[in-house]
Formats: sequence, structure tokens, C-alpha cells
Amino acid sequence: MSYPYQVKSLEEYKAAYAKSEADPGAFWAEIASHFSWRKKWDTALEWNFTEPKVEWFKGGRLNITENCIDRHLEKNGNTPALIWESNDPDEAHRSLTYRQLYEKVCQFSHVLRNNGVKKGDRVCIYMGMIPELAIAVLACARVGAIHSVVFGGFSAQSIADRIQDAQATVVVTCDGAFRGAKDIPLKGMIDDALVTCPSVKRVIVCTRTRTPVSMIKGRDTWWEDEIRKVETQGLTDFPAEEMDSEDPLFILYTSGSTGKPKGVVHTHGGFMIFTAYTFVNMFQYKPGEIHFCTADIGWITGHSYIVYGPLGAGATSLMFEGVPTWPDAGRFWQIVDKYKVNILYTAPTAIRSLMGYGTQYLEGYQLDSLRVLGTVGEPINEEAWHWYHKNVGKEKCPVVDTWWQTETGGTMISNLAGITPAVPSFATLPMPGIHPVLIDEKGEEVKGNGVSGNLCIKYPWPAILRTTYGDHERCRTNYFATYSNLYFTGDGALRDENGMYRITGRVDDVLNVSGHRIGTAEVENAINMHTGVVESAVVGFPHDIKGQGIYAFVIYSGGHSNDEQLTRQDILQTVSRVIGPIAKPDKIQFVKGLPKTRSGKIMRRILRKIAEGETAQLGDTTTLLDPGVVEEIVVGKV
Ligand code: WTA
Repeated sequence: MSYPYQVKSLEEYKAAYAKSEADPGAFWAEIASHFSWRKKWDTALEWNFTEPKVEWFKGGRLNITENCIDRHLEKNGNTPALIWESNDPDEAHRSLTYRQLYEKVCQFSHVLRNNGVKKGDRVCIYMGMIPELAIAVLACARVGAIHSVVFGGFSAQSIADRIQDAQATVVVTCDGAFRGAKDIPLKGMIDDALVTCPSVKRVIVCTRTRTPVSMIKGRDTWWEDEIRKVETQGLTDFPAEEMDSEDPLFILYTSGSTGKPKGVVHTHGGFMIFTAYTFVNMFQYKPGEIHFCTADIGWITGHSYIVYGPLGAGATSLMFEGVPTWPDAGRFWQIVDKYKVNILYTAPTAIRSLMGYGTQYLEGYQLDSLRVLGTVGEPINEEAWHWYHKNVGKEKCPVVDTWWQTETGGTMISNLAGITPAVPSFATLPMPGIHPVLIDEKGEEVKGNGVSGNLCIKYPWPAILRTTYGDHERCRTNYFATYSNLYFTGDGALRDENGMYRITGRVDDVLNVSGHRIGTAEVENAINMHTGVVESAVVGFPHDIKGQGIYAFVIYSGGHSNDEQLTRQDILQTVSRVIGPIAKPDKIQFVKGLPKTRSGKIMRRILRKIAEGETAQLGDTTTLLDPGVVEEIVVGKV
């Protein structure tokens, strides 16, 4: 078997691209025809970027899980769909064939129904990386509920914000999660969150760590008990809820440059087509291969390329509970050899971190099953690219550098493994169907090659975000109002002499720390919640492993102690409580004042330069209210 929508040569890529440019609707409709629909769509594409309104395959009826599971049962029921590797290298792995996954998803769909979940309800999922997480996600989709997965590294406050925003009625969680040497008390975190979440009527708790938990009568129930009930009732199949192509599939919260994280909404039809198409094409997936994406399902990469994309293509997806450096920095390589992994998809931050441990951790591993390597989440520096290519790929595996975002649902710019050229540190060429443009400071399109600008996209693609949950205006102002008739990515890019794209990073106030998106405003709000803090300003700075680190300038009024070190730790605790440990600043500098314009705006440009150590080129500071503060900050740099 191969895929009718797989591009197999450079010529085919060019032809597909030209076709998609001439008529995006017809291009994607042809691809969509290879998936299973209960009813075919009436119109392939209706759109305008002014409202914005984008509708793909309108009138089409389907359920994404029928494509991801049922469709494969007849011919590939015994093919492994999910393979799971524990955090603990000595614990037995688990493997679910498509048939077994089908049974598990149907059972849990019954559990959701039995607990009152209806089509359109929001279910918050806060779990570690165990197969039940993927099962819960798919069961939500099957019953027509909208899942909102929250990454296990977020605090109770962040969970509460997300539950309240979505008005979720059910939470699915675990007693705890293992991550390296740590045991994270997930249920305890949920209990803290739920104090302020009256919408939640039911909490389903899956056993993993056997951490003691409190189970509240009438609200909390064990996953295993619920499954037993379904088994006693003799319920096996669960007919998938028939959805409209444009019905929401999930919400995933992501940081922007202002305010609280926004709930990016994706839909059944478009997400299904785009994730499967991009998965098959960028990796040039061949049936039977083992695909290992090291992301967490709490982020978009896990949604698209652990769950929906690979399963949509009938592939075998390996999910890993642990971390790359525990018990030692050879963990990934051990997993690759153990399962004969063919495709390894990871983040530049993981590569840089492993590079730092040295190549001795690769010794003794064959890695000869690998065929394709991929990276995602942040720009990859050339050194890390070459290290990955040479030491992991033995110079025989194409490295695909895949650029995309939570809002794009799947890969937008990337080389296609072995088909289109790879250039270190370049995402290279757009996927068929994706039409990038670069815009200059005046808002004009910069044409031709050897140019740079703000990266925008011209036409809709099937997995473009449809809205931000509960606040469509926010979606419009964030993505569609900066430039008329264009989707604005928030990234800057250059297009070289050969038309290859290199992503240069965010041009807004969003940081990318270890591939995690964090808004500077969010971190500032969290810091400002600490009692002694008067004001703060947060910027990014280059960090060898994380890509970007978080640098906070803080005006502190003096608190109960005069101990700077203790105050720093108090502030870190505050950020941890409000957002989560992932948002803790790497550096905190106490300052007397912040560089502000006469109108009171913080000049971040100057702070960024200072944090980057480029104090010699601070630019014009004469427009500042008090140019003296800059000198003081430079002197006090940490
Ligand atoms: C950045 C992750 C350079 C970019 C899938 C984008 C990248 C943000 C790349 C989205 C890449 C992602 N090269 N930069 N290959 N991939 N980015 O929403 O700044 O977590 O806007 O989605 O990560 O992060 P998000």
C-alpha cells in the first residue's frame, strides 16, 4: 500500500504546488476524497480573512476517529497503532493494535457518555504520557465532545483558567505522572484548580503512580471502575457521533503577546486531512514504519503527530512517557534500537541538550533503523543540525526542519524527506497548499528572493485555526488584522536566493523556551502578583540549550526580608504557582526603574539588548523619560 496523496519526487512536488496555487479548494478536495466521509461535502472551501471565516468541506459529515481507527480495521486491524514506552526502562512496554485501540476507545466513549458527556461538551484532559491519554483524546472525538488537553507542567491556576474559559464539565486525569526521577501529583493539582471551577461535574482518574489522592464523593471516579462497569454491561462497540466537517474537534490553549492564553479551535474535517497529508509527505512515511515523536500530547505537536496524523495514515506511533536524559542521556537511542524506530521527530532543545552530554551516550547503539529525522518547535542552529545529522542519522537520514504553529494545526514549511532539498537551519519550502508571503515594515509584500520580512500566509489551508474559543474578535485582531487579507504568523523569516525559507524567530512579545511558547505579558503578570513587586518587564535572551531563556527586570519595593536571593526564589515560586515551572525566569535583575518613553511605554528593545549582552548598541535613548535608568541597569546586569 502507498498513499495516493503522497508526493514522490521533486517534479511531483512542483506539480502539486502549482495545482494548489491555482485552486486551493480543488487541490485539497482531491486529497480529501481519499478519506472516509459519511456524507461528501457540498463546497470544498468558503472563506474570507476579514471576519475571519474559513469553512472547509462544508456539509461533509464524518467523525475523525472513523478515519483514524475504524477505517484501518479490516486490512490492518493487527497492525500496532500505538506503542508505549514507560518512563522506567525496566517496565514492560505496551502495544495496542488498531483493533485493540478501537476497543479501548469505544469503551472509554461509553464511560464518557455514562458520565454525562454530550456532543459539543468540553472535556479537560490533564494526564501524563500514558496510552490512556491518547485513548481519552480519541474517545472525546468519538462522542463529539471537544477536548482541551492541558500539559502536565502547568499549575493549578493555569488549569483553572483553561477550564473556566472553556466551561468544561468533565476532567480526565491521573493520580500522578512519572517524568524522569520526578513524580508529579496531577490529581492534587486538579483538586486545587477545581476550587474555582464550578462547571466541572465529574473527574475521572486513571491510576498510574499510586500517589495517594483524595476522591470526592459524587464528583470523582476511577477510570478502572468506570471501565469495569462498561464491561459488565457488555458494551463493546461505540458508534461514532456523526459530526459536521466544521464542528470543533478540540481547543488547545497557547500564549500570545497579550493577556491570558487563548483557546485555539480546530475542527474535524480540516484537521483530519491536513495532519495525515503533512505526516505522510514530510516524513515520506511508508506503511509498517515506526514513527517516534518525542513531544508531549499536551502540546500541538503531540496532537498532530503522535495521535491524529499518524493514526489518520494507519501508521504505528510510538509514545514515550519519560524524558531524554533519564536514567541517562542515551535514553532516546536505546528506544530507537529497541523498537527499530524509522522516523525520529524531536525538538532542537532536546538535541542541544543531548549534544551537551557528549557522543559517548550514543556509543553501543546501532541506530541503523532510522530513515528520517525531524525537528520542530524552534529554529535549529547549524551546529545542532549537523550534530543530529552526523551522529544520529549517520549522514544517511534526511533531516526535515518543520515549521508550524498551534494555530496552523500541522506543518506549513518543511523539506520533504529525500524529495526536496534540505538546508541546515532552513525550513526550506512550503508544503503544497501553503502560500507564504513576506511583508515589510510598511505593510507591503516583499517579492523576489534574497529578502526578509514578517511571515504571513495568503490562502487558508484545512487546519488553519477557526477561532479563539469564546472570543472571535481576539482571533481576528491577533492573526488577521495586522495585514489585510493575510494570516499573520508572528514570526519573521527570510527567503534566500533559492527561494528557501529560514525562520528567524518571533517578532512579537512571545518567547520560545525549550520549544514552549510563553508570553512575556503572562510572565510579567505572574511576577507582579508577588507582594513586594511594583513592576516588571520580561524579555528573552539567547540560551545555549533552551534556545531562549527568560530575563526578568523587577522593581521591588522591599519586603519582609532584605535577602535578595530569597526574594528571587519567592518570585520563582510565585511564577511556578501562577503559570507553572516552565515559565520560571532564568535571570532576575532588581532595578530601580525601567526604561520608559514619555508616554509610559516600556522600551523593550533596550531591555532585550541588555539581556542579550549587547550593551554597546543600545540605540537612541534620548526619547526616554529618564535615560539614567539605562546606565544603572547595564551596570547591574546579572
Ligand atoms: C516556532 C509548535 C523555527 C515559531 C509546532 C512558531 C519554529 C512557534 C519551528 C510555534 C521551526 C516552530 N523553525 N521556528 N521548524 N517550528 N517554530 O505553537 O516561532 O508551540 O511561531 O507550535 O514555534 O509554537 P507552537
